[in-house]
Amino acid sequence: MCGIVGYVGGQSALDVVVAGLKRLEYRGYDSAGVAVLSDGGLAAAKRAGKLVNLEKELGERPLPGGAVGIGHTRWATHGGPTDANAHPHLDNAGRVAVVHNGIIENFAALREELAGRGHDLTSETDTEVVAHLLAEEFSSTGDLAESMRLVCRRLDGAFTLVAVHADQPDTVVGARRNSPLVVGVGEGENFLASDVSAFIAHTRSAVELGQDQVVELTRDGVTVTGFDGTPADVRAYHVDWDASAAEKGGYDHFMLKEIAEQPKAVADTLLGRIDASGRLTLDEVRIPDTVLREADKIVVVACGTAFHAGLIAKYAIEHWTRIPCEVELASEFRYRDPILGPRTLVIAISQSGETMDTLMALRHAREQGAKVLAVCNTNGSTIPRESDAVLYTHAGPEVAVASTKAFLTQLVACYLLALHLGQVRGTQWGDEVLAVVRELARIGEEVERVLETMEPVRALARSLAHKDTVLFLGRHVGYPVALEGALKLKELAYMHAEGFAAGELKHGPIALIEEDLPVVVVVPSPEGRSVLHDKIVSNIQEIRARGARTIVIAEEGDETVVPYADHLVRIPATPTLLQPLVATVPLQVFACELATARGNEVDQPRNLAKSVTVE
Ligand code: F6R
Repeated sequence: MCGIVGYVGGQSALDVVVAGLKRLEYRGYDSAGVAVLSDGGLAAAKRAGKLVNLEKELGERPLPGGAVGIGHTRWATHGGPTDANAHPHLDNAGRVAVVHNGIIENFAALREELAGRGHDLTSETDTEVVAHLLAEEFSSTGDLAESMRLVCRRLDGAFTLVAVHADQPDTVVGARRNSPLVVGVGEGENFLASDVSAFIAHTRSAVELGQDQVVELTRDGVTVTGFDGTPADVRAYHVDWDASAAEKGGYDHFMLKEIAEQPKAVADTLLGRIDASGRLTLDEVRIPDTVLREADKIVVVACGTAFHAGLIAKYAIEHWTRIPCEVELASEFRYRDPILGPRTLVIAISQSGETMDTLMALRHAREQGAKVLAVCNTNGSTIPRESDAVLYTHAGPEVAVASTKAFLTQLVACYLLALHLGQVRGTQWGDEVLAVVRELARIGEEVERVLETMEPVRALARSLAHKDTVLFLGRHVGYPVALEGALKLKELAYMHAEGFAAGELKHGPIALIEEDLPVVVVVPSPEGRSVLHDKIVSNIQEIRARGARTIVIAEEGDETVVPYADHLVRIPATPTLLQPLVATVPLQVFACELATARGNEVDQPRNLAKSVTVE
């Protein structure tokens, strides 16, 4: 939610910043802007709309060259996406420029106070107050980092701020509370960004910033303190992927590339975590075995697609460990006064590691004494840092706003966790679990096989581009898969799409069925869970009898569904609990193709942003 870049070094700051913003545009694309320091002055440009509008503006009215610059791509919170509300925001003298991600909750009071002292604030944003406050503080301190510390101590809310001042022309200063900011350390140049993809083309050395810290960057130095000025310890790390991972690599959209990367992402997430004898080796789960053995409840908190991964995790956790497991939308969790204690294990699932709702849920859980384990894709992000332990997914950077490969790897991580818990607790497993472990080892190949057979799904999607509604049905783990299929369609194709538990049909949703309404049905494996399978076959007949056009996703070899399927999509046979890993893939392809056919922007759907860092 908003992407931020800062640069100081020997290259053209404008080029580095604009290239960085391109990589961060998935975080917000309502408007964009840049500011550079040059010849003792500060020059800025900003435009509503996508980054191309800003690039056009820079083409027509170039900014002077300079070696220090900042930039921003916005997902609007306070004030609509207009030129005036775009960042950077400047003080009245035009000496300070600031970009911001987050929400400054006490901005109205600060604005009034500034107006009382004669400041003229011209935008509707909460951010602009910071530029004016920094200018005031700088006039007495003469130091931007110190001014930033003083200002941050007055701000309530969540924020990442990055600022430059024309009177300190060799410096960029950043600050963070609850929103992401990472330092990239180069040779004779340094970077600040909302995530490493903005500077990965220049350096893979990164430094995490902690809560309530201010960082001062010059060409040759990075200095980090707390808001109170105390020097801070920081963690440096090496980014284990390179620039090509954050590029489209010949695909039309990042989403297509990310769907295609799923076999590898799944395999990478399993790598080194199951030994040759089928035992789990999750050494990074640094929660003592005694705590895991004594846990009497598991609560999964997450949002959106990650929440759907959590819903599937519940089936695996309860089935394999016999520990009761609740799954809750992170945005609801802390407001209902949940019952938590030292024997509760909370699993927080988040691709970005920055989702504010999930972060707040985990903080609440820890305050109540629960242990928190994060499942996360982003090294060094806030959610793993604030958790007791983390199991990283290894999906690599996910740039498309709609989550695909991160979802599959979240599932893999949750299966591993459930198996690990069972192992630690000494759950007696039979052949079923051994079959699951064996299957997991080759699941990447199965996902690959699904991908190879997607042309009919694409054709079907194109033929449905004129429809208004698509429904999704599933049972057991197929139910969250149906929810995920519907979410993908909503966010990408802007269609009315809903997922239902097939058993609920008769309790209301069947009234929606009408002639030629497309209904996607995820059919569970006929093996092992035949009752479930038979029931969904009955559901398919019920909706077909009422005119629905049935799109049936069923395992290879399942012939019972053939007479009732208007369109049949085959997936490989897998153990029931693992089926979401293969059943979700056609739904991703379906949504992506439908969105394309409707002329929508696949990677950057309207109104959305990849990383939701506000509540
Ligand atoms: C949907 C999607 C979102 C995210 C949700 C949580 O395709 O991407 O629903 O899953 O915003 O994000 P993370 O996993 O970063 O916490």
